Order: sequence, then C-alpha cells, then structure tokens
Amino acid sequence: MNLKELNQIAEAMVAPGKGILAADESTGTIEKRLSSINVPNTEENRRDYREMLFTTPEIEKYISGVILYDETIRQKAKDGTPLVEILKKRGIVPGIKVDKGAVELPGSSGEKITEGLDGLRKRLQEYHQLGARFAKWRAVLSIDVAAGKPSRHALVANAEALARYAALCQAENIVPIVEPEILMDGDHDLQASFNATERTLHTVFEQLALHNVAFEGMILKPNMVIHGESCKKTASVEEVADATVQVLLRCVPAAVPGIAFLSGGQSDEDASAHLGAMNARHPNLPWKLTFSYGRALQALPLKLWGGKASNAANAQKGFLHRARLNGLAASGKYEAKLEQEFKAA
Ligand code: 13P
Repeated sequence: MNLKELNQIAEAMVAPGKGILAADESTGTIEKRLSSINVPNTEENRRDYREMLFTTPEIEKYISGVILYDETIRQKAKDGTPLVEILKKRGIVPGIKVDKGAVELPGSSGEKITEGLDGLRKRLQEYHQLGARFAKWRAVLSIDVAAGKPSRHALVANAEALARYAALCQAENIVPIVEPEILMDGDHDLQASFNATERTLHTVFEQLALHNVAFEGMILKPNMVIHGESCKKTASVEEVADATVQVLLRCVPAAVPGIAFLSGGQSDEDASAHLGAMNARHPNLPWKLTFSYGRALQALPLKLWGGKASNAANAQKGFLHRARLNGLAASGKYEAKLEQEFKAA
C-alpha cells in the first residue's frame, strides 16, 4: 500500500467545490432508469447515455470522480475513445463499483448482506490496469424500529465485509469508498435515523480499525440522517443538516479526508439543500462534506435526454446545472433561488 498516493487520490475526490457522480448502476438498475424514459436497455443506449454525461462541457469544474460499472469501464465512445480516457483527459478520476449486490442475510429476518469478496483482489488488479483509482462497495441496511432493525447481526456482518473490501482495495492502491446505506424506506422519524446511523458508523469504524484500514486513504459514503420517506413528521433542512453533522462528529475519525453522501431517493433540491446547509452551518469540520449522488445528479439529464441524440446538448445543460448547484452546496454557498437558473430549451 502506498498511503501517500491513496491520500492524494482521496483528497482529489473531495477537492473544494467538487464531488462524485455515481454512474455505476448495474444492468438491472439502469433498466429501471431507461424504462422510465421508454428507452430499451441495450448496451449501445447505456453507452450513449453515459457518454452524453461524461462529455458534458465544463463538468470537470464540479465533478472530481465518476463511479463506473464493469461494462462502462471497458466501453468505448462512438468515436472509439475509451470512456475512461475521456474522463482522465478532463482530470476526472475514474472509479469502479466492485460489490456484486445485496442478497438475503441467512439467519436474519429479511436483512441483507452484500456479496463480492471472493476473487476481489484479482478484479481490483484488473480494474487498476483499466484506470480505476477508487472503488465502491455498498452495504444496504433498513430501519424497522419495532422489529429491531438494523439488527446487530446485520450491522456486524456488513461492516466486516466493508472492512475486508476496504483493506483489499488499499493493498492494491485503490481508494475504497465505504458505503453503509441506511434506506429511507419506512415511516421512522429523524431520531430513529440518527440512532441507526450512529450504531452503523460505530460498527463500521470498529471493523475498519480491526482490519487495519488507513483512514487517510478512504472516503466514507453514508446516508444523511433523515426521516423515512413515509414519515408524517418531516424534519426541516436545518434539522437534517445538524443531526447529520452531529452523528458524523461522534463517529468518523478526523483522519478521514472526506465524506461524500449518497442521495438515496431525496429530491434533487433536497439533496442539494441538505448538503448546502451542513457546510454553511458547520464551516470548520475535520473532513470535507460533499456529494456522491446518482439519482440526484442524473434524474434531470435522464429526462431531458429521453434517448435522443438531438436532446443531448440540453440534457448536458441540465446535468451541469445539478453538478454546479451541488458543487456550491459542497462549499456552503447553495441557495434555493439558484434552482430557477436552469430553463430547459
Ligand atoms: P443515489 O444518490 O441515487 O442514492 O446513488 C448513490 C449510490 O451510488 C448508491 O450506491
């Protein structure tokens, strides 16, 4: 492991005013996105859509890295240039999703465990050759207060898998994005999200330490502390921001260079407003707070593109708009009135 190099990559991923585009949807997940705009899920359409995103003018001002899927890291643009080269030329760090998805955790009542550790070292070596300098592994947890979820069983099993993945990444000079996602599904309130997030992050950092993961060479990708999507008592932007920062201060060592949130089904505007409020209200944190959004960056350009090359320029404007607003949020300069600046052609 070259910790200096890992730290430099991690710092670049959370450079001021920049964040990460999660474009690592599996073939099954991108199917849902493409079918929402009535576009068939073919390899060519997946390539065209992602090429449209990656070639957006000026996107490198706000996007530091892109998480790719196995198919995408091997794909070439229409003119034959590998998509990875397009990113690298613009100073954007290519990353790769390496987990193989979540399945039912045996012995639990419907909780999940993420697979993909077998053979991971070899896959990381190949991905490094293909240009990846960081990786992502997502653990999926859910809240059901009455049923005691997330259970300690699910927390420990998932935290251990995350730590084993992270240690392997660092051994291969790849920065691990450690993503323990607590889903927004359910009617739990802000406090329940706070409690579950605190238990999760304590367990994750205990396992990371046990597996000798160097905190200076990793990025944490957590959920925000937020009420469940069907909770009647919705928390304000400020409450979400303050609760999230409080739990992170309790759990995340200062040696971690940055924390890049997932959007998790929040609206585009909420995802920007919450990140913006955290940075505006808490300017002197030990780590950078930024974004690693999938849906909250892609929903607008996906809709504007609609599978038509003639819409690409307009879709790119929409993508740049969301990236810029999230970049401002990462600097604490987001304002809701900026949402009006984008007008679709
Ligand atoms: P969302 O921002 O859509 O939650 O996706 C981020 C991600 O990478 C989930 O693993």
